[in-house]
Amino acid sequence: MALNQRLTLLLLLGLTVTSAATSSCFFSEDGARRCVCNSMDILNPDNLMCLEVLELELRDGTLEVSEMPVSELALVFQLIQINKLIFNNVTISVSFISAVIPFLPTHLNEIHIISSTLEVVQPLQPPVLLEASRIKTLYLEDTTVDPSLLQPSFQALHRWLFGSLKSLGLVRSGLVETDCIWAQRVENLTHLDLSENPISYTSLQNISHCASLSFKYLKSLHLRHSNLTSLQSLCTLLSLTPTLTQLDVSRNNFSILHFPQCFQVKPLRMLNLSHSGITEVNSLTSASLEELDLSYNSLEVFHDPPQTLKKLFLSNNRLIRLPSLDNLSHLQVLKVDNNRLTVLITEMDVNLSTLEQLDTLHAGRNPYQCDCALKETITFLESTESVSVEDYPEDFLCATPLAQQGTQIMNFFPEPCVKLTSGTQHHGSPLWLTLFVGLSSCLIYFC
Ligand SMILES: *[C@@H]1O[C@H](CO)[C@@H](O)[C@H](O)[C@H]1NC(C)=O
Ligand SMILES: *[C@@H]1O[C@H](CO)[C@@H](O)[C@H](O)[C@H]1NC(C)=O
Ligand SMILES: *[C@@H]1O[C@H](CO)[C@@H](O)[C@H](O)[C@H]1NC(C)=O
Ligand SMILES: *[C@@H]1O[C@H](CO)[C@@H](O)[C@H](O)[C@H]1NC(C)=O
Ligand SMILES: *[C@@H]1O[C@H](CO)[C@@H](O)[C@H](O)[C@H]1NC(C)=O
Ligand SMILES: *[C@@H]1O[C@H](CO)[C@@H](O)[C@H](O)[C@H]1NC(C)=O
Ligand SMILES: *[C@@H]1O[C@H](CO)[C@@H](O)[C@H](O)[C@H]1NC(C)=O
Ligand SMILES: *[C@@H]1O[C@H](CO)[C@@H](O)[C@H](O)[C@H]1NC(C)=O
Repeated sequence: MALNQRLTLLLLLGLTVTSAATSSCFFSEDGARRCVCNSMDILNPDNLMCLEVLELELRDGTLEVSEMPVSELALVFQLIQINKLIFNNVTISVSFISAVIPFLPTHLNEIHIISSTLEVVQPLQPPVLLEASRIKTLYLEDTTVDPSLLQPSFQALHRWLFGSLKSLGLVRSGLVETDCIWAQRVENLTHLDLSENPISYTSLQNISHCASLSFKYLKSLHLRHSNLTSLQSLCTLLSLTPTLTQLDVSRNNFSILHFPQCFQVKPLRMLNLSHSGITEVNSLTSASLEELDLSYNSLEVFHDPPQTLKKLFLSNNRLIRLPSLDNLSHLQVLKVDNNRLTVLITEMDVNLSTLEQLDTLHAGRNPYQCDCALKETITFLESTESVSVEDYPEDFLCATPLAQQGTQIMNFFPEPCVKLTSGTQHHGSPLWLTLFVGLSSCLIYFC
């Protein structure tokens, strides 16, 4: 108990240990909020500095009752005021969890378990837990969970854990099947991330048959990288989520995207469809969508974005012209960088100056064609005060003509351009036509 006394004494004296040479705990780069320790080092009194932080990360090793003095860890937990506990690259036994649960810091509301293993070591004393935990967020990533942990013998642990849980992440953690018992346990969550699992859609659809199941509080659902090929396959699941506002189905494989009716009636505000091999979008209609991410796809055209949009991300596609933005009076952010646009603004269609709410624009890394037709684009970029064009001027380069290739378009001053009658195609008008028109206007204006 010498360690306990030393800890208590140090604390009473108000001593702060600044930089002990033997200390292997360190503050992580993201400010001094998080202390990172090898699992055993947290018991070293030289690491008292960690008592001040809000986040504690325990790394490497095995957390097992027989290998770690639980009573001393309990004392540390009582002295520390963290609200977030992170386990990284550890093997945690369930008996260890059961043993420390009664001593968890009172403000603790978030647990992350990364690249770790949760195992059940026999024989097991099922934990006796009366109250529900105060944990609001549980996030597992790359973590192997012993399947027996899902068995009814762990009901007490489940009830403790899910009591006030609002947010659950099970990312890249081998989740394959879901069933009614599992679904009922997560029914009150507001945030669920099941990304990057080889999850079976038959089993996801099956849960719609579970008795009186509804995810009535669920606001955000992430199914990133889940081998989805159509949105239609999510309709059954979405029928159980009346209040869903954010859906992340990025990194799937949709190719031609059909936007099903079941999505149109949802109060969806954010939809992430990036990195999904989309070549075509059909009838994307919504009366609520405010944020749409379609970046990193293969779109050549995108017609009629929903008029409710505030943020539209179309970077890294193959767009040859801007989508029709006429009626997007709420649009604040537009990203169309790295596409195949040769011009941003033409006299014919969109005039970005008419988008009154627009304040952020990315449109660099497009193959701009530096001829007279680019004049409106340059004039807009040079004169706009309300829109912040974050990648201008450095990413706006001429791709054609060859003589101008690589020059920033801001340094390209079109020769006094001949004003063609509106409706005539500026682009690629043959030289002789330009000369001819130029000559005739000369004649008309007696130059
Ligand atoms: C994970 O922890 C083990 C010890 O338990 C260690 O040998 C290994 O290097 C650690 N891996 C990483 C990526 O830190
Ligand atoms: C969800 O909330 C309802 C009441 O709000 C409660 O009866 C039910 O037990 C909760 N479910 C879980 C798994 O905590
Ligand atoms: C993805 O789906 C295809 C067929 O739909 C299947 O053959 C493949 O195994 C799935 N991949 C994963 C990682 O689930
Ligand atoms: C879906 O439900 C049917 C019957 O309700 C059952 O036979 C089947 O095994 C379930 N499939 C999955 C993947 O859970
Ligand atoms: C959409 O998902 C991708 C990765 O899957 C992510 O990088 C991107 O930030 C997300 N977009 C939004 C608007 O959150
Ligand atoms: C996407 O799905 C199509 C068939 O729907 C398949 O041919 C293709 O290989 C899939 N691509 C990826 C990256 O999974
Ligand atoms: C914009 O709205 C007007 C009137 O509501 C409609 O006539 C027009 O077709 C719309 N334009 C686009 C591109 O949706
Ligand atoms: C775009 O609109 C602004 C203000 O409404 C106007 O001054 C400008 O001439 C327009 N540009 C084009 C190319 O129509």
